[in-house]
Amino acid sequence: MWFLFFLSFLSRLSVKRPLFAANWKLHIAPIDASAFMRSFLAHYGRHQDRSVLFFPSALAFHAAIDAVKERSDISFGVQNIHWEDKGAFTGENSAAIARSAGARLVLVGHSERRHVFGETEEETGLKVAAAVRAGLIPLICVGETLDQREAGDTETVVLRQLRAAVAKIDASKIDDALIAYEPVWAIGTGRNATPEDASAVHAAIADELKVLVGQRSSGIPILYGGSVNRGNAGALLAAPGVDGLLVGGASLDAEGWATICNTTLTS
Ligand code: PGA
Repeated sequence: MWFLFFLSFLSRLSVKRPLFAANWKLHIAPIDASAFMRSFLAHYGRHQDRSVLFFPSALAFHAAIDAVKERSDISFGVQNIHWEDKGAFTGENSAAIARSAGARLVLVGHSERRHVFGETEEETGLKVAAAVRAGLIPLICVGETLDQREAGDTETVVLRQLRAAVAKIDASKIDDALIAYEPVWAIGTGRNATPEDASAVHAAIADELKVLVGQRSSGIPILYGGSVNRGNAGALLAAPGVDGLLVGGASLDAEGWATICNTTLTS
């Protein structure tokens, strides 16, 4: 049953239905997660043409997932995992534990993990490998800092992060992964990348994925993240190569997040 659901989730992703992913970061306690979901569902009807993903904190995960039963268009992931499968790693969660708690996905390489917690590119590779071992879909985040952008190094940095993220596995195994381009200077700053800038980086990522994964890379969705809000969501989603949105701040208000998820799609 789980397996069939998982397969259908993958096949839905492979036709690149737009994805709307909420990264709650260190917000929304368990006690608030079910009320959030009730309010969200009251404002978000089922759309056949898109999927919604939630990344609650590990402790709010259960409350959030429990409040959304029987909605195959809504999936849950965790914000982080340790790269080891088990052992003496106090405070950590493994990919297998996340999977058994109901997670389908895991964020790997988010800029806050890299820049606040000092996660290295090598560690992102280990985490992607751990996710794949446990059957979790990695949502691999890449993005340049403002200094790197101003130095003209955006592509170099983003593609290096991407290669490092898949360095510990047979890259052909990530044809069911998701990628998010999240420029560090755009995260939580109110300054989003323009649709044109996002498209240019997404195109470079897509080209690199072709090299790494081969033809099946065309099924890998590439999301944009960084100061997405209800005002810019439509234009960003309409940009060539943008297959979805990864949203932090604007996903914390149930009604506002539903408005974003209800964005009219232009083909
Ligand atoms: P933001 O965060 O939407 O608040 O900029 C995005 C993210 O960190 O994933």
